[in-house]
Amino acid sequence: MTEHLSIALTKGRILADTLPLLAAAGIEPLEDATATRKLKVETSVPGTSLLLVRASDVPAYVQYGGADIGVTGKDVLLEHSGRGIYEPIDLGIGRCKLVLAGKPGVDLNGQCRMRVATKYPLVTADYFARLGRQVEIIKLYGSMELAPVVGMADVIVDITETGSTLRANGLVVLDDIVDISSRLIVNKASMKMKHKTIHALMSAVKSAVTEKFND
Ligand code: PRP
Repeated sequence: MTEHLSIALTKGRILADTLPLLAAAGIEPLEDATATRKLKVETSVPGTSLLLVRASDVPAYVQYGGADIGVTGKDVLLEHSGRGIYEPIDLGIGRCKLVLAGKPGVDLNGQCRMRVATKYPLVTADYFARLGRQVEIIKLYGSMELAPVVGMADVIVDITETGSTLRANGLVVLDDIVDISSRLIVNKASMKMKHKTIHALMSAVKSAVTEKFND
């Protein structure tokens, strides 16, 4: 009997690096996943489909069983409770850093409560709690770099890869918070119920990751 398996992925910069890892497990989309407007794409393995969702929704799809497996950034996972999810493989792709950034010379030790713009409120609250600092967190959904430019926030917590968005907006890294990469995540119930299929996939993906980074 064909076992159904669904894998939640995100369109965008990580997809091109993720598809070869799935191809190593024999899973190839039957149409161009980067271009289609379809949200569910069938693959070369009957019963196995790719779901194309927003990066920040991947943990929810996997937690609630909408998908058996997902690929998303550690930044997204740090904002999620992790309930119902295993995180067995660091795929080594999508590497970037979560940083504190602001205008050069910004006074981080001033008397008043700093305003921090971010789409990562939990990680940000944890970071400043560890420093013993009380801050006001402004939750944004993107383009965080604009907040210090227009004076709405003193600093931001965001991911940076090449640094070009920070540079283009006159901001600098003030502190490195954590290294980020993409992770393969698995629904805990699926791991039990579809053990054989998921283990075969994980083992092929792990070998492909090892091969990719040992070349
Ligand atoms: C991310 C991040 C930065 C940018 C950093 O945004 O929020 O803005 O990439 O990359 P860089 O260091 O290579 O310039 P993304 O493009 O994912 O869009 P978003 O603003 O919607 O999050």
